[in-house]
Amino acid sequence: MQNTTFQIDKLQSIPTPFYLYDDKLLNDTLNEINQCIKGYPINVHYALKANANPLIVSRLKQNGFGVDCVSGGEIKLAIESGFDPSKIVFAGVAKSDEEILYALKARILCFNVESIEELSIIDTICNSSGYHANVCLRINPNIDAHTHKYITTGLDENKFGIGIPQLPDALIKLKSLSHISLIGLHFHIGSQITITQPFILLCNRINALIQSIESQGFNIKIINVGGGLGIDYYNPDKNPISDFQSYFNVFKTHLKFSSDKQIHCELGRSIVAQCGTIITRVLYVKQGITKKFIMIDAGMNNLIRPALYQAYHSIQNLSSTDQQQEVYDVVGPICESADVFGTEVILPKTSRGDLLAIRSVGAYGEVMASTYNCRPFAKSYLVSDLY
Ligand code: LLP
Repeated sequence: MQNTTFQIDKLQSIPTPFYLYDDKLLNDTLNEINQCIKGYPINVHYALKANANPLIVSRLKQNGFGVDCVSGGEIKLAIESGFDPSKIVFAGVAKSDEEILYALKARILCFNVESIEELSIIDTICNSSGYHANVCLRINPNIDAHTHKYITTGLDENKFGIGIPQLPDALIKLKSLSHISLIGLHFHIGSQITITQPFILLCNRINALIQSIESQGFNIKIINVGGGLGIDYYNPDKNPISDFQSYFNVFKTHLKFSSDKQIHCELGRSIVAQCGTIITRVLYVKQGITKKFIMIDAGMNNLIRPALYQAYHSIQNLSSTDQQQEVYDVVGPICESADVFGTEVILPKTSRGDLLAIRSVGAYGEVMASTYNCRPFAKSYLVSDLY
């Protein structure tokens, strides 16, 4: 691999493991999104849960996006990072009273409400604190996103949102509450979605729902289609930027919307995943009984996706120039058999001291890190600060 992001001499002196963020790629990705939405009433709310590193968040702030938050902590971070509260949306199946009050005081754009009970709780808190809340109903449209079961969110069996059969009761409840205004609908059917068909189905469902809800006297101004656009984990160099054009075209062509409506979306992974890499050093190369292991100094504490979802991440040896290739399992130092980054990975002959790159970790990588085994959090760097 000869990608200028990974100039080996620059990386050798930095203690490993660390996260390396390619800010040029991030900029290119943001430019592509901006091109796609130019001239359309589409508002992007960056899903902060994907990566909350200040180096990344500040770049997104400069770009003018809003933020999708799922906790009081994320709202606080968004506000401290300078985001305009009127561009913050707040989802979450179990918002605490404290989080609700905090969001009201911050005057965020809206709550994406996930149950009928939550409507009552927000109304009660508004009543006692003197605030008024704008809400979007998060509707679970029962659409299969054809993705990993742990990141599917829009099926009846999932805990998220208000099911379509419960919608009539939610609307009756809304009419009875005086401290809440319904301003829109919210959906999020899952993550790492790599085909357009689920998004097309979603549009059709949304069109029917809006017609039915508006015929009951409500005015839907915001159609929030959530996030979920996937990335190419297998070919990060060939496809560094997701197909935003096809993604946005789905909504431009399949959603029926009039001039009083805005489309909102909450992209996370597709904005930041490909710009992040873990740089890690080989500590041992161990011949096991049936396998050969490369043991690296990064562990599942730095990237839990392979252990949690059996997720694939491309792994490259940045320093070996050996022509001979070998088959390895690449494993971390943690005392867990699940601490595996890749099985049967073909790499040039690898030795102690080599630097490896674990690719596409910019989303749900650093942000899901832990200090398990009392390992400190790894540091992070921008490519432009190193070269
Ligand atoms: N909006 C809501 C309400 C969400 O729950 C999520 C992600 C997003 C937007 C952003 O979705 P994205 O564009 O990133 O697909 N840790 C898992 C992914 C969990 C996604 C949680 N919700 C992983 O590593 O694959």
